[in-house]
Amino acid sequence: MPAKLNIAVFASGKGSNFRAILDAIRSGRIRNAQIVLVISNNADAGALATAVEFGIPALHVSRKQFVSEDAFCEKILGELDNHHISLIVLAGYMKKVEPIIIRRYKNRMINIHPALLPAFGGKGMYGIRVHEAVIAAGSTISGATVHLVDDEYDHGTVLLQKTAPVFPNDTPEILAERILRVEHELYPETIRLIAEGTLSLDNYQAAPRT
Ligand code: GRF
Repeated sequence: MPAKLNIAVFASGKGSNFRAILDAIRSGRIRNAQIVLVISNNADAGALATAVEFGIPALHVSRKQFVSEDAFCEKILGELDNHHISLIVLAGYMKKVEPIIIRRYKNRMINIHPALLPAFGGKGMYGIRVHEAVIAAGSTISGATVHLVDDEYDHGTVLLQKTAPVFPNDTPEILAERILRVEHELYPETIRLIAEGTLSLDNYQAAPRT
């Protein structure tokens, strides 16, 4: 049996995606993976509290704590090394990951976005704004996307998507809730496929710049 995939989760907020992935691991739905580190830029992140509750090393690491970006990146890279991380899972991480970390974890870092990329993605397209834009465009279908992370927002290779309907009376908040439920299925499922080797991240080339 191959070694377990060691995952680091980066999260800034309530961490419901982190929780969904953790539940999938704890219930045995994902067998070959374990979350061994949670990093947040926000000391009050729900994700850190959840990590502590489950005995997972939880770190508040913010750029503000360091004199330089180099020192900040060194800290994060050191922690990733120490925990033998082979996959970084961004789950509501509201900071752009520094290029040196992206390069070091090329094809080893994934993100989830609450829309069907490449539509409704890019700089400034996060949180409720995504769902406002989907409704304003008159879309009848939205969904969630898991993609590799490269150095442009929401730009790396799409790995898996799952759709959900947009109904005429939806408010952005109602749509956001529906999509979040989709995310809670899609993210664990993607990680299951990666962990069991069905979805290999090895052979992706960088997508062309847009
Ligand atoms: C999700 O909607 C995700 O798509 C986006 O940030 C949100 C995080 O939610 N990147 P949570 O912290 O996992 O509850």
